[in-house]
Amino acid sequence: MATGSYKERLTARFLGQHELLQRTSHLLARHAAYLRTGADLDEALLHQFLHFFRSFLLDHQDLEESRLFPWLNRHGVSQSPLAKLLEEHMQARRDLEGLARAVEGMIESHGADSDRETYARLAEEFALALAAHDWKENHILYPLADLIDVDEELLARGDEDQDWTMDEEESRRWVEDVEALALNWPAPAVNLPHTRIAGGPAPAGPNDPGEER
Ligand SMILES: [Fe+2]
Ligand SMILES: [Fe+2]
Repeated sequence: MATGSYKERLTARFLGQHELLQRTSHLLARHAAYLRTGADLDEALLHQFLHFFRSFLLDHQDLEESRLFPWLNRHGVSQSPLAKLLEEHMQARRDLEGLARAVEGMIESHGADSDRETYARLAEEFALALAAHDWKENHILYPLADLIDVDEELLARGDEDQDWTMDEEESRRWVEDVEALALNWPAPAVNLPHTRIAGGPAPAGPNDPGEER
């Protein structure tokens, strides 16, 4: 039997989803850096990255947009920061389609240098933007939700099962498989501010020394 209010369990669930998204973003950027070195194109893996973000990320965004954001707005959070986060969701969807086109271009040219560079740049930009977005939600939005003390449930109980259907375990197993595969890639050549990868350095916040704005 789950404990805590629905709101507490929802934000905890979102934090867990962000952790998986950040691990995958880091792998995406690392793999892109590896491709820059002339590594063989792994078409299956390239498509698996796209599938993961198109399913897991977009389901996560849909749940935030349909449940959390309207609830926060009803309880005093102004529209402006929520609209900014919504715009970032839409930008991520556009960037994901740009990334898909870059994958197809790279495959069609059998890994021409210019297409590898285009893909790597887009993959790194996508990973950076997602990391910054999740950082804001982790450190500002979700704590704000935790501060709102109201009796109203975020969801009707009957909706709950429907919202927990994201198959996180299957996604988690896939991420672990790719992390094992990545042990054979060259040393990490990417630095994603705002992220904390297991075993990595502490995450940098926007006000930390040396952090660019
Ligand atoms: Fe979000
Ligand atoms: Fe999120």
